[in-house]
Amino acid sequence: MMSTEYGNIPEETIDAVLHQHDIVETVGRYVHLTKQGKYMKGLCPFHSEKTPSFTVTPDRQIFYCYGCGMGGNAIKFRMEIEGLSFPEAVKIMAEESHIPFQNPGAKAESPQDRETGRLLQAYEWSEKFYHFLLKNTEHGLPALEYLRARGIGDKLIDHFRIGFAPDRWDTLVQFLDKRSFDLAEMEKGGLISARQSGDGYVDRFRGRIMFPIANRSGKTIAFAGRILGDGHPKYVNSPESRLFNKSRVLYNFDQARSAIRKQRQAVLFEGYGDVIAAWEAGVRNGVATMGTSLTDQHAAMIKTTADEVLVCYDGDNAGQNAALKSIPILEQAGLKVKIAMLPPGVDPDDYIRSNGSERFVRQIVEDAASTTKFRLVNLRRGYKLSEEGGRLDYTKAALPIIAALNSPTEREVYLRELSTEVDISFDSLKQDSNLIRQEHSRPAPGQEDPGPAYSGPQQGGRPGSSGGKGRGRGDYANKGGYVKKGNFGGGNYAHTEEDFFPQERRARPDRNLLPAHQAAERRLLYLMLQDRQAADYVAARLGDEFNTPEHAAIAAYLYAFYAQDREPDSSRFIASLQDEKLEKIVSAIAMMEGSREWNEQVLNDCIREVRKQTTLRGSGIEQKREAMIRAEKDGDFLLAAQIASEIIALERQ
Ligand code: UTP
Ligand code: MN
Repeated sequence: MMSTEYGNIPEETIDAVLHQHDIVETVGRYVHLTKQGKYMKGLCPFHSEKTPSFTVTPDRQIFYCYGCGMGGNAIKFRMEIEGLSFPEAVKIMAEESHIPFQNPGAKAESPQDRETGRLLQAYEWSEKFYHFLLKNTEHGLPALEYLRARGIGDKLIDHFRIGFAPDRWDTLVQFLDKRSFDLAEMEKGGLISARQSGDGYVDRFRGRIMFPIANRSGKTIAFAGRILGDGHPKYVNSPESRLFNKSRVLYNFDQARSAIRKQRQAVLFEGYGDVIAAWEAGVRNGVATMGTSLTDQHAAMIKTTADEVLVCYDGDNAGQNAALKSIPILEQAGLKVKIAMLPPGVDPDDYIRSNGSERFVRQIVEDAASTTKFRLVNLRRGYKLSEEGGRLDYTKAALPIIAALNSPTEREVYLRELSTEVDISFDSLKQDSNLIRQEHSRPAPGQEDPGPAYSGPQQGGRPGSSGGKGRGRGDYANKGGYVKKGNFGGGNYAHTEEDFFPQERRARPDRNLLPAHQAAERRLLYLMLQDRQAADYVAARLGDEFNTPEHAAIAAYLYAFYAQDREPDSSRFIASLQDEKLEKIVSAIAMMEGSREWNEQVLNDCIREVRKQTTLRGSGIEQKREAMIRAEKDGDFLLAAQIASEIIALERQ
């Protein structure tokens, strides 16, 4: 979540909103909750599940799902379930309980903010105007007919707010002028064009079907205008503006978001037409880039709500190549990738029209290929398998792709398939594959650390692409083990999400399964959340020297929270965070079982566990000496002795 979206709403407003909106009541409107001891449980509205792992704690006023890791306070719940930004949610909730709400932006609004506001308004008006012209005037008739012939009827036209720009010079210019919009500003914002002669303005979109493009909160920020029938250019898109940056916007993301979240999957299309046809076919998690290739920002945007992306590009060469290129971008963002295989020359929209929704869902969406399968199929097209030379060349090209897989099972499956295809024995293929693996895992001369496991010829070699320093990948090339960068309170860290919510552990919230130092860090934070004295105690001894960067950030925020003389309150503390990931972690920690009682002994034990890890991580003798001295000072002679022996071992080396 971007910090600007939080605005600067006064703390009292947020406190009042949280006070008036009980978490059980808020959640209860969407989720059937049953009481289980101190908790309420229900089926998570943010992912599909059959047994309830969605938990609400009335006494801490927070929710947390052990299945998907979503968590937070009542405001967060409304944001997620209704797709609202933080200020939007606070505003709505404040109005509901008659708490005075002042738009925080209103006071401190800069001229730039005001210009953005006017532009947003102009886009909204224009969108409504175009929609009206399509549906209610004779200008729109041919467009209506064209759309209907393509299977886009009234329902879809309304849903996607499709419109029509008449083939005249100044329809929109006059419309905006009459409403006193500053035309120069509108030109800068991409709605209209300046006349070549330099005096006056003309419409940018003429004789085109208008597809509004919305930002993630559903506000129109650009248009794509399609010509009726054939012609060139097929689309005219809004230029980039202060509102619209096409490498950060995905068509339909605002409406697909809740379905994406539920299924943990997004379907990525190339065209607007595909998204709309798929929507009608029941695929509600579809989004599209807009005449640009997929960017890292797009991938990151999807990753906020999904674990997997199904790439559903056109079946022509351009589409398939674009799909190939999208794989490393999506994988780098930590997403699993599948590729839909459409018949050559067919796009999803065509496919649905000629084969029907059901076949599209069954044969294209549900039967999507793994990236390896896709690469192999794609590769095979270039070889003549009927000839021995072709088979050999194909084998040579295919082996490195298979050898790159870290799962022996997966390698075996693909090697067996290859063996049948090219008629070479499985055993020889396996030997070759092993040779390739060995070559790639041999450390380069003078390099001790073998580095990340061999990850194949096609996955690009960007920094941090495969698990960071010396950290091997998981069994399957994409299962966890990716690197994410977080930036909390100034520090820049690389870590894997597995460190916090290991996939296989998510369902079982037993902190004993965590490594001891992490359990200790969570225990400390748990106690610190309940009691400011515990926080003071830890602040004085450990500060923010937690090993897990997120834990360190949470500790720092918590010290700051108490420094403002605030009472322990998980829900309000969460409201003070400006980071979705931290919110979830705090919710998980606040949900932990266990006594809230603490004494110095309990805290000391945890602190020691945390420090031990810090020491073990630092390999320098100097650091170890310092740690030893600290341990001695703390009277922890056991730890001091352990470090001493490590120092001796290092010195021997
Ligand atoms: P397509 O040509 O496949 O368009 O381009 P489409 O959306 O499927 O349109 P129909 O089905 O022919 O009506 C795919 C995407 O490439 C971008 C648009 O984002 C389009 O949706 N594009 C294409 C442009 O930006 N400009 C163009 O001139 C053509
Ligand atoms: Mn198309």
